[in-house]
Amino acid sequence: MKNLVLFASGSGSNAEKIIEHFKGSDQVRITHIYCNNPSAGIIQRAERLGVPCRVFDRESYKNGTVLKEVQSLRTDWIILAGFLWLIPADFVKAFPQRIVNIHPALLPKFGGKGMYGHFVHEAVVAAGEKESGITIHYVNEHYDEGATIFQSSFPVLPSDTPEDVAKKGQVLEHRDFPKVIESLVLPASS
Ligand code: GAR
Repeated sequence: MKNLVLFASGSGSNAEKIIEHFKGSDQVRITHIYCNNPSAGIIQRAERLGVPCRVFDRESYKNGTVLKEVQSLRTDWIILAGFLWLIPADFVKAFPQRIVNIHPALLPKFGGKGMYGHFVHEAVVAAGEKESGITIHYVNEHYDEGATIFQSSFPVLPSDTPEDVAKKGQVLEHRDFPKVIESLVLPASS
């Protein structure tokens, strides 16, 4: 059994898709959700979905308490599903090539500190991009710089608003993220 922990800061729609995807699996289990935002929608979602949700503060994140907990849960993979804090170096060291993030643009464009959620889609429209998409990538100590695992894209029309771009991106995230996680966690040879 592979144990996955999801980290989330927001509404948690991706977390829900991942949980649904692995529901009933005898090979992959979502053991916990870790959330840094006490008012995030993911907290109620987690309750509805029956997955334990641990809300943590910056201190326990920085001083290693959260990492120790996650390790004690026999976690194999950490999945960032809309998680907005930088991952500290001790996490990266403890889970080498075992932390995966989803970013709502085609990295290396529109990544880095402060580039998240609607800021990304606003920047894409302001730059007059003809396409956008999603990137699933390994996580290192820098925002959005780890190696790319998967990308998918869609056209941005001249009439598209940032909200339109966000909606198109979310469709791809929900369609692709769970499958890409499955292919990483359960490679065909295992
Ligand atoms: C997703 O679009 C994800 O790509 C983005 O946050 C959203 C979370 O939505 N992540 C980032 O911007 C990371 N830099 P959700 O809470 O509904 O899953």
